[in-house]
Amino acid sequence: PRILILGAPGAGKGTQSAKIADYFDIEHITTGDALRSNKEMDISHLGLEYDTPGEYMDQGELVPDAVVNAIVDEALSSADGFILDGYPRNLEQVEELEEMTDLDIVIALDVSEEELVHRLTGRRMDPETGDIYHVEYNPPEDPEVEDRLVQREDDTEETVRERLRVYDENTAAVLEYYDEDGRLERVDGEQPPDDVWEDVKETVEETS
Ligand code: AP5
Ligand code: ZN
Repeated sequence: PRILILGAPGAGKGTQSAKIADYFDIEHITTGDALRSNKEMDISHLGLEYDTPGEYMDQGELVPDAVVNAIVDEALSSADGFILDGYPRNLEQVEELEEMTDLDIVIALDVSEEELVHRLTGRRMDPETGDIYHVEYNPPEDPEVEDRLVQREDDTEETVRERLRVYDENTAAVLEYYDEDGRLERVDGEQPPDDVWEDVKETVEETS
């Protein structure tokens, strides 16, 4: 299936996408990860405010559409089934995506703002595998993994607040768009991860 997952920063898009990709044997396309691997890419030819994606990301701002659209276009062209995570984030990107592919399912993870801040400031990443952990909710069992965990540069409380503001200003409209055309399937993202996964899996199986 071709699945889109929506939700605020920290809603659990990455966590659930990893499970979806595994279970349905499809590709996980994530603009956040793609951009993090290309933080230093030279985009000065666009003549915009900053010369690299990283400068936007570390402040919690959106990376310019031209950069992100190209990444998604390329990734989608070689994917049969996919779970798309982190895109579209504004209505211009929605239009671009409509040109690139048809979606079978659009899932939105609902989580309260207070919980989002708590999840993001406690998130840790394994730099070797890309696996996502949380100091409280989902600590690694292996002490060796625990020792090498890092915090994402945009997970400081100040940047988290800015990312949530940018989400409200730009990305909330994306949810409304899919809701209005009747395609949005809402899942309660505030449950424990395995319960969210049960609901997500059921939604995909019933819709596709
Ligand atoms: P991106 O990487 O996409 O960040 P985000 O949207 O802010 O989302 P996160 O990755 O922070 O959260 P998530 O929903 O994946 O949650 P996770 O599963 O990790 O984008 C980063 C930046 O890149 C943007 O700010 C922007 O600059 C740029 N960018 C990306 N896409 C762009 C685009 N299309 N256009 C322009 N710019 C773009 O979980 C979070 C934490 O909670 C973890 O610790 C996890 O263990 C824990 N957790 C997860 N689920 C649960 C649960 N059910 N219960 C308890 N804890 C949980
Ligand atoms: Zn993510």
